[in-house]
Amino acid sequence: FRQIKELPSDFGTMIYDPGYYNTAVCKSNICYIDGEKGVLEYRGYAIEDLANNSSFLEVAYLLIYGGLPNNDQLTLWSTKIMNHTFIHENLIQLMKSFRYDAHPMGMLISSMSAMSTFYPEANPALRGADIYKNKALMNKQIFRILGKLPTIAACAYRHRIGRPYNNPINTLSFTENFLYMLDRLSETNYKPHPTLTRALDKLFIIHADHELNCSTATMRQISSTLVDPYTAVAGAAGALYGPLHGGANEAVLRMLEHIGSVENIPSFLEQVKQKKQRLMGFGHRVYKSYDPRAKILKDVTNEVFDLLGRNPLMEIAIELERLALTDKYFVDRQLYPNVDFYSGIIYKTMGFPTDMFPVLFSIPRAAGWLAHWVESVSDPDLRIFRPRQVYLGKRGLKYVPLSQRS
Ligand code: ACO
Repeated sequence: FRQIKELPSDFGTMIYDPGYYNTAVCKSNICYIDGEKGVLEYRGYAIEDLANNSSFLEVAYLLIYGGLPNNDQLTLWSTKIMNHTFIHENLIQLMKSFRYDAHPMGMLISSMSAMSTFYPEANPALRGADIYKNKALMNKQIFRILGKLPTIAACAYRHRIGRPYNNPINTLSFTENFLYMLDRLSETNYKPHPTLTRALDKLFIIHADHELNCSTATMRQISSTLVDPYTAVAGAAGALYGPLHGGANEAVLRMLEHIGSVENIPSFLEQVKQKKQRLMGFGHRVYKSYDPRAKILKDVTNEVFDLLGRNPLMEIAIELERLALTDKYFVDRQLYPNVDFYSGIIYKTMGFPTDMFPVLFSIPRAAGWLAHWVESVSDPDLRIFRPRQVYLGKRGLKYVPLSQRS
């Protein structure tokens, strides 16, 4: 603690808390984590029950509206979202203007940001803050963002592999349609395998929310300015892109490829202990035991392997996990596998290129971002985020004209 009171309106006491690790910036009813016990709940429901019994859209509804939908509500919700899967022709042109090798996450972030110009009804600067009092208008933006994100993601993927973009098919399920748009070879000859659809749907469920992770905190921070939700989601996606957050599963794959074989693991772990390397996919700011999502993913991995064959990197991953979990260095620091340790291997086995990994994270996490958007803009305690700093720089220097500087 440090006593700081510059203005009469300052509260006087400030906490120096880099990264806000010990600061609660909101009250929330959306997601509960017990990092010591490895518990994760969405709106009070255990992640294991949701992953095993629900669909992603059911979970998205739960996160945003606070309760599980009944049959009619789920049908209406799914229809609304699937009716918003087409993207504007000019947005397609914008996406086509990117370099042939553009990172799909860069394309996703830019396209989401551009969507704010396609839907000015969501822009409080044009409409006044009344969008936040109009539930129907807010819902429409939710349908659009959740409906169009998979289409944008699929276009970004098709762009990267130099193939024409595909139109969505609204009668397929959310996840089936996404897989269809990625790989359609002709009008008729591609139908996603149900095992892969279910595996990806489970991945979407476990990635849908994780309380105030960096991207969701970014979503809340940007939303606190009352900007439109497209701009806020683009900003949140920007935070997710970083290698310490949504980019971690990509980094895990690169690490496993770099290790190359089981024999090289001990020397790699030595380098980690000497802090020359970081064990990607291990450690978590909140979980100080096994990440419950990583446990679910281990089962999904086996379901995908049964269909597509075992990925050779899995041998390295399993041995790496075994050695790390029995090594005092990692035990002392409570470093366990996190959700990213296995997700990259599953995506790779399913045929996704590594630069699609953060995109595959953004699609479901948008449900969480939007749940936090709704909760935050409806919160009577909402104030614009404005952290303070401890200034350590110089003051009162005499200005030297350019011509006199040595
Ligand atoms: N590999 C090696 N050492 C680690 C790792 C790691 N992955 N994570 C933490 N440590 C060590 C630190 O070096 C530190 O050691 P020290 O006490 O000797 O200095 C100690 O463990 C504590 O580290 P902190 O930095 O305090 O851990 P923090 O909880 O702040 O970090 C983070 C969390 C950023 C996720 C970190 O564990 C990490 O970088 N992991 C790898 C990246 C990753 O997998 N990210 C995905 C997170 S999940 C998600 O975003 C969905």
